[in-house]
Parts: sequence; structure tokens; C-alpha cells
Amino acid sequence: MKFFTRQVAALVAGYACLQVSLAQSSKPASFTEPNTGIQFDAWTVAESSLSAGLTFGVALPEDALDTDATEFIGYLSCNSANGDGSGWCGISLGGSMLDSLLLVAYPQGDNVLTSFRIASDYAMPDVYTGDAKLTQISWSVDPTGFTVLFRCQGCFSWEQDGTAGNASTSASRLLLGWAQAEENPTDGACPDDMSLMQHEGQSIWNAELDANATSSMYDSWAELARIQVPGDCGVGNRTRLRH
Ligand SMILES: *[C@@H]1O[C@H](CO)[C@@H](O)[C@H](O)[C@H]1NC(C)=O
Ligand SMILES: *[C@@H]1O[C@H](CO)[C@@H](O)[C@H](O)[C@H]1NC(C)=O
Ligand SMILES: *[C@@H]1O[C@H](CO)[C@@H](O)[C@H](O)[C@H]1NC(C)=O
Repeated sequence: MKFFTRQVAALVAGYACLQVSLAQSSKPASFTEPNTGIQFDAWTVAESSLSAGLTFGVALPEDALDTDATEFIGYLSCNSANGDGSGWCGISLGGSMLDSLLLVAYPQGDNVLTSFRIASDYAMPDVYTGDAKLTQISWSVDPTGFTVLFRCQGCFSWEQDGTAGNASTSASRLLLGWAQAEENPTDGACPDDMSLMQHEGQSIWNAELDANATSSMYDSWAELARIQVPGDCGVGNRTRLRH
């Protein structure tokens, strides 16, 4: 099989990182996205031999540290290792690759396409068929990498084929995972059809949430999410939602 030939090494590395990060909490930095003013708790993976560098931010409803949120606004910015805009990166909303809701994002032309996935094995994750919904606020693609700002509804709990899980924002922390690769997905025009090359790097982090992640502005920020970008899947491709 062409894909995931490095899975054994990745598995070992993944467990080593899991042990380290469960013992350590990762404090967020406060990040304000300049075009929208949306404020995030954000974590950055530094550039290294395993990662070209990426930043993931989470903005939550005002009461999310008391009452579990069902959605968030996300900021995902991924550098391109090859300096030509190629690559993909992914976030696990349950920390591990297995049995967690995975969000994969990659550039496709001028667009950033996204795909929800779930995996029961260290192989190409399946398309997630549950209720999670992603709506974009904005995106950008250039040779240095890509960025997508989005609303993610139904993303803190998941269920597929008898596997269920959730992330509880009232715990004031999220167990998150990242993965990144330098090559574009193949067959990437339609996110459901794409295949990923095994990622070069991944890890899990225990993401502490502080009050900077929550805002009374959340609902008005969420209203900015109006564009669904399904890719070219043989049906209408870009839908601008009417509010
Ligand atoms: C979240 O998952 C835990 C088990 O990991 C379970 O006990 C709990 O009921 C779940 N919560 C929700 C809201 O589904
Ligand atoms: C918000 O972020 C700033 C800068 O990172 C930090 O100093 C401050 O403690 C944070 N505030 C809260 C309420 O967590
Ligand atoms: C939309 O789909 C058409 C073909 O169905 C394709 O030519 C076009 O490039 C697609 N546009 C975007 C933005 O994906």
C-alpha cells in the first residue's frame, strides 16, 4: 500500500508524545485575528524537521468554560514546507488520531478545502458522516502556506460506527492533536475523494483554555461565517449562505 508506509514510526512517536503532553499543560497565547477582531486562545507548533509550523486557535461562546460548548470558531494557519503552497494539516479534536473527530485542511487552487474524518485504525481516515458542519469566514492561500478562519458546529462531540467521543470545554482544557505533511492530498478536488500521504509530523497537546478564549461577541462573530466551500464534487461548488 502506497499510503501510510511510515505508520509504525508514527505510532511510536505518537505514543511518546502522548505521555509527555498528558503530563504537561500547554498554555495558550492570546491572538486577535486582524481582519475580524476575533480573539482566540492559540497554540503554535514551531517549525522543525517534523513541521513547517502551524497555528491553531479556538474562540468559544461566552459561557463555554462553565457549560460545554457544542461549537467554536477556529483559526488554522499552516506553513508550506516546500514554499510553494503545498501540503495539508489536520487537527484532532480528541487528541489522538484514533476514534476522534479529525479536521483536515489543504489548499486547492485559491481555495482552502476541509474534510471531517474519523479513523479506527492507523490508515487513511474515513469520511465522517456525523453532524459536524464547517462554514468559512475567510481563507487565504499563498506560497508560504494557507489559513482558514471558520465556524465549526457540532464539532465537540462525534459518533460513527459505534464509536463516540466528546471534548468538554467546561474542563477548561482540550486534548488536541495536530498532523502536518508537505505534499498535497491526491484527488483533492472533492474533499470526500482525497487521499493523504502519511504526515511527517504529529503530536498531542493538552490545550489549556483561559478566559481569552471566550467572548460575549461570539454570536456576532459566528454570524460572519457564511461560505461553505465543498470543493468540486460534481454538484454546485461554492455556496454563499443567506442570512
Ligand atoms: C463525553 O464522554 C464521556 C466518556 O468519555 C461520557 O462519560 C460523557 O457522558 C460524554 N458526554 C457527552 C455530553 O456526550
Ligand atoms: C489573556 O491573554 C493575555 C496575553 O496572553 C494574558 O496575559 C492574560 O492572562 C489572559 N487573560 C486571561 C483572563 O486568561
Ligand atoms: C466548480 O466546479 C466547476 C466544475 O463543476 C469547476 O470548473 C470550477 O473550477 C469549480 N470552482 C471551484 C471554486 O471549485
